Amino acid sequence: MIALGSDHGGFALKQEVIKHLEARGLEYKDYGTYSDASCDYPIYGKAVAHAVADGVCDKGIIICGTGIGISITANKVPGIRAALCGDCFSAEATRLHNDANILAMGARVVGPGLALKIVDTFLDTPFSNDERHVRRINLIED
Ligand code: RB5
Repeated sequence: MIALGSDHGGFALKQEVIKHLEARGLEYKDYGTYSDASCDYPIYGKAVAHAVADGVCDKGIIICGTGIGISITANKVPGIRAALCGDCFSAEATRLHNDANILAMGARVVGPGLALKIVDTFLDTPFSNDERHVRRINLIED
């Protein structure tokens, strides 16, 4: 189950992500926002982060205008490793090296075509499980 969240700046791209996940047959839960009316990104960043940290969802995708505010918010929740990605190399590397559990994107930064490739890369890349990466991830929370 994939948790989704955005503010108004990310709402339209979140709708594209939803269509894409449905086409792939992947289950998701949309934590809002549900329109393009102006709203506060921390509400949705926190909702997705808690859903992932509590094990309700396996991974999350969060979107605001830049991806910055919503990723800063999500990373305040213990156990969350939210990675702001604007390219597929970073999306692959953050899964392999950081075992990132939330993908953050900026809807005013990436277009929908690139965003959906980033989503696929993030969802389809497993964690490497390399000892050095496990050690470094554990050091994040120490
Ligand atoms: C909203 O205008 C914008 O500030 C928000 O989407 C995000 O970019 C914040 O980091």
